[in-house]
Amino acid sequence: MKNTKLIATAMFLMAVFCITATAQVDEKKMNRFIDKLMSQMTLQEKIGQLNLVEGEDVVSGGKEKAAYVQMVKDGMAGAMLDIMDVRKIYAVQRMAVEESRLHIPLFFGLDVIHGYSTVFPIPLGLSCSWDTAAIERSARIAATEATAEGLCWNFSPMVDICHDARWGRIAEGAGEDPYLGSKVAAALVRGYQGNDLSAGNTMMACVKHFAMYGASDGGQDYNAADMSRWRMYNEYLPPYKAAIDAGAFSVMSSFNIVDGIPATANRWLLTDLLRKEWGFRGFVVSDYESITDMTNHSIGDSLDCATASLNAGLDLDMCSYVYIRKAEQLLREGRITMKTIDQSVRRILEAKYRLGLFDDPYRYCRDTLRRDSIILCPDHRAEARRIAAETFVLLKNDNNILPLRRHGKIALIGPMANDRLNLSGTWSWCAQPDRYLTLLEGLRRAVGDSAEVLYARGCNLMYDAQMEDRMVRRKKMRDPRPDDQLLREALAVAAKADVIVVAVGECAEMSGEAASRVNLELPDAQRDMLQALKRTGKPIVMLNFSGRPVILNWENENLDAILQVWFAGSETADAIADVLFGKMSPSGKLTTTFPYHVGQYPMTYARFASGRPMGETFQRFKTNYLDVPVEGLFPFGYGLSYTQFDYSPITLSDTLLDSHSTITASVTVTNSGNCDADEIVQLYLRDNSGSVVRPIKELKGFQRITLKKGESRRVEFLIDEPMLRFYNAQLQHVSEPGTFTLMIGPNSRDVQSLTFTLR
Ligand code: BGC
Repeated sequence: MKNTKLIATAMFLMAVFCITATAQVDEKKMNRFIDKLMSQMTLQEKIGQLNLVEGEDVVSGGKEKAAYVQMVKDGMAGAMLDIMDVRKIYAVQRMAVEESRLHIPLFFGLDVIHGYSTVFPIPLGLSCSWDTAAIERSARIAATEATAEGLCWNFSPMVDICHDARWGRIAEGAGEDPYLGSKVAAALVRGYQGNDLSAGNTMMACVKHFAMYGASDGGQDYNAADMSRWRMYNEYLPPYKAAIDAGAFSVMSSFNIVDGIPATANRWLLTDLLRKEWGFRGFVVSDYESITDMTNHSIGDSLDCATASLNAGLDLDMCSYVYIRKAEQLLREGRITMKTIDQSVRRILEAKYRLGLFDDPYRYCRDTLRRDSIILCPDHRAEARRIAAETFVLLKNDNNILPLRRHGKIALIGPMANDRLNLSGTWSWCAQPDRYLTLLEGLRRAVGDSAEVLYARGCNLMYDAQMEDRMVRRKKMRDPRPDDQLLREALAVAAKADVIVVAVGECAEMSGEAASRVNLELPDAQRDMLQALKRTGKPIVMLNFSGRPVILNWENENLDAILQVWFAGSETADAIADVLFGKMSPSGKLTTTFPYHVGQYPMTYARFASGRPMGETFQRFKTNYLDVPVEGLFPFGYGLSYTQFDYSPITLSDTLLDSHSTITASVTVTNSGNCDADEIVQLYLRDNSGSVVRPIKELKGFQRITLKKGESRRVEFLIDEPMLRFYNAQLQHVSEPGTFTLMIGPNSRDVQSLTFTLR
């Protein structure tokens, strides 16, 4: 009976709507279809399309379940988020399609930020691979798994540029640089959306958080961000624009204010810039409850907030439920117009059309068995393992202590050494930790019988249990034994070993949303443990887990090797084993500067030249600090390898450039060390004279190359006039004649340079 009804409904939909979803949507046909549908909709049904409903309550029987179910049946819901089960998505979709008057399907969204159950490294880690093809593949796999679970809308990519690692959400983005950030943003969009949004295994991307969220004052989450438009255009906006140019069909507004107005209600941002200047044609969704949050911003009451958002161009209300409650009244009172509502409704319906949902509302959820063969399949896991290994950054390797040989006794010590829950990092709702190996298990498997891996936990994350409890909400990992007992055990294990590998740092929830911190040194208990281990005189290799850059001065001075491993996802253990034992050479390069001191924030390698630049050595009355260097301990672009790469002098094909010509800059890179490895060759430019002050260097190109031991390769960068453009004081995107310094090197600090002139 149920099935018959279902087939009938499907046939009804097909007959009535008769849509063929193709890669290239026939716009005229789509418009006709939407015109017709909208002509049948009541005002309430239209407003209902602008309502994004929390699905967790619905599936877990939360206290709002009945109300939300009713919304779906009444056609008062446009989309739903946070359902992670294809059967449940199917059930809700059926409700929408069969029980609502106009049978309009919902679309289902989730934060699939760095993989679904096959979890890739956190985005900050992923960006350190500088491997945009791999990043695109990771997004493709994430979309393949998520769509098999019935989802078709992803709250990713997060492209907020961040110069202040106190902000925990630095973990979710691609670091500090707009050029690299733009490449990563576009790769993620391509990976999620593919060529055809309506294909059953692609999902709609959502660029967030629009905009400038990463510049929140003091690194506090949800805090104000304030900067000149000039800075926005040059430094913060490019990755959002790149994601939109790559075809992202939705945008999420940010929690912060921009020019004093919350982004959620900022018409300049959401309409003038996004739509009129950039030509964005998709829809804008608020962040979670950010419309009603504006009452706390003192924008007014909920009526005022809804008015401001709707008039600013914010189409879809995420979980404030204020549009469905207030929009009709606002219309009656003349505070918004029917045109505004219609415009937003059209954008939501267009998204559904493009996703192919009018053609087949069950496109993503009909086959409830597909997920079993797709999610966490061996191919996906193998790819995640390869990519994870590319994201590790070797910060130090004295006397080539790494790679380790697989023999003797290795002591693995630290709170992250035998933990399963934290490996996937922040925003990994669909991780399945019981199917992942702990580092201890991974290393033991990797060495087999040829070496012995001893283990001790050594310490908790920190001494203060209450503080730890605040930092770790869900993924609790505290060992109840006394601190001195944990340490004694570690020292006993260390005494038996030839080398000590420590797995230390942050746990997953110490970065991500609402995880701002000011003390970025290794927490007290872990530092004390390291100091005690150091006194054993044994060589120590540090694996640093973190979702942000941290302060590693003591560690850099005292330990033999440091490998930054971020949170590398489901395949962490195997990927670390691959790199530790030399199956792969580390090749990641930092995309965010590691400072000496948290007081250096905000910071970026791409600083503006000051009128009193610091010199090679300290001088008073220069732009510097009395107590720490100006630059970071580990600069942007930095990362060592197990091999050695030699760079030849740069050659330029010409030193004069005009708007019709190009210059080729080249270097020959030679792998003169002892193993095959990848190198990331980086190109920076500085504009030496102009109408506005330009950064002392800006990344303008990079190439990731693989060189066999002994192999050389000529690496070429093409320089043309558009590359030299920037936003001037009038916000025009221009280049200006003059000299430019061109720099090439293995990181932003160790570069060679030459100059050329733009005529
Ligand atoms: C976050 C967004 C996220 C949304 C939905 C918010 O709290 O700021 O990044 O997409 O929740 O989960």
